[in-house]
Amino acid sequence: MADSKANDLMERIVSLCKRRGLIFQSSEIYGGINGFWDYGPLGAELKRNVKDRWWRIMTQQRDDVVGLEATIIMHPRIWEASGHATTFADPMVDCLLTKKRFRADQIEPQSGIAYHYSGAEDATDKAKTSKEPYSVLLAPGKNPDSARKVARQFYAQRGIAEARLLEERTEKVENSTRYNPENGSLLTEARLFNLMFKTCVGPVENAESMAYLRPETAQAIFAQFKNVLEVSRQKVPFGICQIGKAFRNEINPRNFTFRSREFEQMELEFFIRPDEAVEAVCGSVARPAGPGHPGEPQANWGWEMWHKYWVEERLAFYEGIGLPRATLVEYWQKPEELAHYARATVDILYKFPFSKRDAAGELAGEELEGVAARSDYDLSQHQRFSGKAMGVFDEELKAAWAKLDEAKKEALSKRYFESRRNYLVKMNEPPDKAEAQAREDAAGLARGSYVPHVIEPSAGVDRLALALICNAYAEDTAPDEKGKMETRVVMRFHPRIAPVKVAVFPLLKNKPELVKKAREVRDLLRPHVTVFYDEAGAIGRRYRRQDEAGTPFGVTIDFETLGEQGAELKDTVTLRERDSMKQSRVKIDALPALLLERIR
Ligand code: GAP
Repeated sequence: MADSKANDLMERIVSLCKRRGLIFQSSEIYGGINGFWDYGPLGAELKRNVKDRWWRIMTQQRDDVVGLEATIIMHPRIWEASGHATTFADPMVDCLLTKKRFRADQIEPQSGIAYHYSGAEDATDKAKTSKEPYSVLLAPGKNPDSARKVARQFYAQRGIAEARLLEERTEKVENSTRYNPENGSLLTEARLFNLMFKTCVGPVENAESMAYLRPETAQAIFAQFKNVLEVSRQKVPFGICQIGKAFRNEINPRNFTFRSREFEQMELEFFIRPDEAVEAVCGSVARPAGPGHPGEPQANWGWEMWHKYWVEERLAFYEGIGLPRATLVEYWQKPEELAHYARATVDILYKFPFSKRDAAGELAGEELEGVAARSDYDLSQHQRFSGKAMGVFDEELKAAWAKLDEAKKEALSKRYFESRRNYLVKMNEPPDKAEAQAREDAAGLARGSYVPHVIEPSAGVDRLALALICNAYAEDTAPDEKGKMETRVVMRFHPRIAPVKVAVFPLLKNKPELVKKAREVRDLLRPHVTVFYDEAGAIGRRYRRQDEAGTPFGVTIDFETLGEQGAELKDTVTLRERDSMKQSRVKIDALPALLLERIR
C-alpha cells in the first residue's frame, strides 16, 4: 500500500464491495481461500458488462477479428511449446521462522544490523545442539534482545528448548532482501516456483495423465490458428480473440483481487505480415510518425504501426468506459525488461490507490493490460513442437515478389533468413539445422509463405473491474429525507458498465395506482436495460441505496404521473441523475430512447 490514506480508502472500497454485493471472499463460510474471489449480484453484472463491451468492440464491431472459446485444460505439450512448463516461474523465498512464503522480487530492501549465530546448544542438556547458522535483522537502534528472542524461537523449533546462542556476530546491512520484513528472520535462498496449477486427466494419477489449468487464454488461439483461418475466410492481417478463465498459483496473492489465483483474461492475437512481406508488397514499411492514434489500418503497416494502433485502441477502450486518461499510464518496457521474443511491449497501467508513488509523489500505476509485439515466436514454437505447419500462403506476396528486382529480393530474403535463424538458434536448434531451416523459410517467403507475426493486447477482467470500482468510488454530501446534509457514498460508474442502469420507484408503496404505474414503467424499460425496482423505504433512502450501487438513473412515479397535479404532467415521471442529483420531468413514452442514448 502506498500510504495510510490510500490504505484507508482501499479499506472503505473493500468494505463497500462486500456490503453492496460486488465482491465476496470465496468460500467465506469456511474462512476463505487465499487468492480466490466471488462476484455478488452487482459484481457479476459489472463483470459481464465489461466483457460484453470488450467482445463487442474487439470482434463484433470489426471485420478483421473473430472469436474463439477454447477449453481450460489443453494438451500439456502446448505449455512446453509456449515455454510455460520451463520458464513460467517466480522466485520464491520462505521465512525460516514462520514458513511464510514471499515472492523474492517483491521484498522491500531493508537496512539495519544483522545478528548472526553459528548455532545453539541447550542450556539444560549440552548434548542437544544445532549447528544450523541463523540470522536476524534489526532496524538501527533496536534492542539486541529482540534479535536473540527471535533466534531462540528458531532454535526451539529445532528441539533446543532452552537455547544458548553460539558466536553472536553483528554486521551492518544496507538494502538487503534476505530478511523477512515482518519479523527480521533470515529467509531461505530463492527457488523458482512454477505458477501453473497441475491436475490429472482421467482416473489414473501419473505423469502421463498430468495436465495444467491454463495460465493464459492466448495459447489456445495459437493452437487453433489454422482451424480458425480455414473456416473464417480471413486473411492476414486479422485477429482471433478470446475471453476466459486463467489460473496462476501466485506465491503471494495481494491487493484484494488485483493478484488472484483464478481470474479472467480478455486476449486478442492479431496476426500480421512480417515486415519483409509488407515491404515486398507495398515497396516500403510505414512507421509511426509521432504520438497518438495512427488512424485507419493501411496495407503498408509493419509491426510498429500495428503495435501503436492497438495501444491507442486499447487506451480509447478504457476511456470509453470511464477511466480518464489521467488515471492511466502508458509504460513502454525497457529493452532489458522485454521477453526475449518481444520487439516492444506497452503496459497500460491504472493508478490504483495501492500503487507505489514515484519520486515526484505521483501514483506510478499497476498493470491492467500488456500490448506486446511478439514477433512470430508463438506460431513458430507450435510449428516446431507439433510438427504441423503454421505458416500461411499469401497470394499477393507471391505476385509482388515476382516483380521485385534482384537486389530487393536478395535484401529482403537476407533479412528474413537472419531473423528466422536468430529465433531458431535462441531456441537451441543446432547451428547447421537452424541455418538450413532458415534458408528454407526464406525460400518460402519468396513463394508467398511465412509464419505470421502477432500483436497481443492482453487484459485482465478482474483487474479492470477493480480499477472501475476504485475509479467510481466517491464520497460527497447530499440531503437526507429531512433535507439535512449527510455524507453520500456514490459509485460513479460510467453508464456503459454500471451494473444496473436504471432504478424505478413508486413514490409511495401503499398507493396501488402508483405501484401499478411503476411496474408498467419497469416492464417498459426491462427489454432494453437492466432495471431495479424498489418500493421499500423513504424515497431519499432508496436514491441513496442506488447511488451506492452506482445506478446512473432513477425514475420516480409520483402523483404528477397520475395526472393529479394537472393534465399536462400526466404520464410523465421524475428522472433523477445519480452524479448531479438533478431531477427533470420526462414523458414515459420517451424514456427508453432517452435512456438508451445516455447509456450506449
Ligand atoms: N498472454 C499474455 C499474458 O498472459 P500477462 O501480462 O501475464 O500476459 C495479462 O497477463 C493480463 O492478465 C495482465 O495484464 C492482468 O490484467 C491479468 N493478470 C495476470 N495475472 C493476474 C493475476 N494473478 N490476477 C489477476 N489478473 C492477472
